Amino acid sequence: MNAEERRLLVLEGVRAAYGAVPVLHDVTLHVDRGEIVTLIGANGAGKSTLLMTLFGQPRATAGRILFSGQEMTALPTHRIARLGIAQVPEGRRIFPAMTVEENLILGITPLTAREQEDPGLRAALLEHVRSLFPRLWERHRQRAGTLSGGEQQMLAIGRALMSRPRLLLLDEPSLGLAPLLIRQLFAVLRRIAAEGTTIFLVEQNANQALRIADRGYVLVNGRIQMEGVAADLLADGHVRQAYLGGH
Ligand SMILES: Nc1ncnc2c1ncn2[C@@H]1O[C@H](COP(=O)(O)OP(=O)(O)O)[C@@H](O)[C@H]1O
Ligand SMILES: [Mg+2]
Repeated sequence: MNAEERRLLVLEGVRAAYGAVPVLHDVTLHVDRGEIVTLIGANGAGKSTLLMTLFGQPRATAGRILFSGQEMTALPTHRIARLGIAQVPEGRRIFPAMTVEENLILGITPLTAREQEDPGLRAALLEHVRSLFPRLWERHRQRAGTLSGGEQQMLAIGRALMSRPRLLLLDEPSLGLAPLLIRQLFAVLRRIAAEGTTIFLVEQNANQALRIADRGYVLVNGRIQMEGVAADLLADGHVRQAYLGGH
């Protein structure tokens, strides 16, 4: 596979705005098949906007977005999910009155009607989530609203995996979780990547994110300010000063 064939997600000079207010300025980045790539940046840098722009909300006002070599910049949002991109949004957005299992099953919506009606496939997908998150599955008949924050985050990830995505997008999954839980969660992300799902992880928690990522990008005021191998960014004095508490 040459470099171009390895590219799963490519952004070239992407700009985005809310009305007249520009948020992303010529963002260029790529995520290769099998990688964990992290995008780190402070609150308000434009990280969530970048993820939402992938789904066309808001739409890029300039530049191109390609998935597996196919241009998706102007595709309708529901078609983008069907390409094999699943998102774990900021704040998890689970349905508290529904059970854990019902929330998980909502995740199959991007699959074809035939796939959705295949009980064998559904069982296999639920089994996969169970194997990744056994403690969550112990509660599969409980209402999702009764789960802890960490369990809700696991549920949101499990739900995204129910569509068998090729690319999993996560928006600050560590937010509000205790350090031990963050380590457990990120260990599962590593396992998901090892099983063949490419991961694009957006985080303010640069330290933990760079520890599990292959490569990273630093977003400052809507611009990519630095990029590189995660271990190099972790060791970089500048990044340490700005994002890792200066230690
Ligand atoms: N729906 C919106 N309408 C207008 N401005 C927004 C909206 N969402 C975010 N913004 C602004 O866009 C900028 C980037 O926000 P965001 O992408 O949420 O950053 P991050 O996820 O890095 O914290 C901020 O200045 C924020 O106030
Ligand atoms: Mg955000």
